[in-house]
Amino acid sequence: MKINKYQDISEIERESKKDYIDRHSAFVLCDSKATVGEKFKVRVRVGDQYKHPDDFDHYIQWIQLWDGERFLAETHFTAGAMGNEPTNVEVDFYIIPKKKLKLTANAYCTKHGLWQSEEVIVEVG
Ligand SMILES: [Fe+2]
Repeated sequence: MKINKYQDISEIERESKKDYIDRHSAFVLCDSKATVGEKFKVRVRVGDQYKHPDDFDHYIQWIQLWDGERFLAETHFTAGAMGNEPTNVEVDFYIIPKKKLKLTANAYCTKHGLWQSEEVIVEVG
């Protein structure tokens, strides 16, 4: 499956392309530091400035969280879970880190495929 990597939309001129990229991009939102053995919250949000549709044949179906090449967690959505309204799908994962994290998230759109976030480094002490 093709992986669409994050692109900074401020460097893109065409409005429709900005919208297309932003509404599919996964963003990893969390603190930059965690404590060994303690629960750590990682929010993943799909889209920043633009919302993605929630139609029966076009919606964000799943979100995964990875630490480097290690798969950590995923969540699935069904069409209509967002009330059939365009929105920024988001989920909070709670993990318990042992060492430094290199977090990325993947989001899957049923029409436009797989989208990978930028990597977020979390120091664990
Ligand atoms: Fe889409």
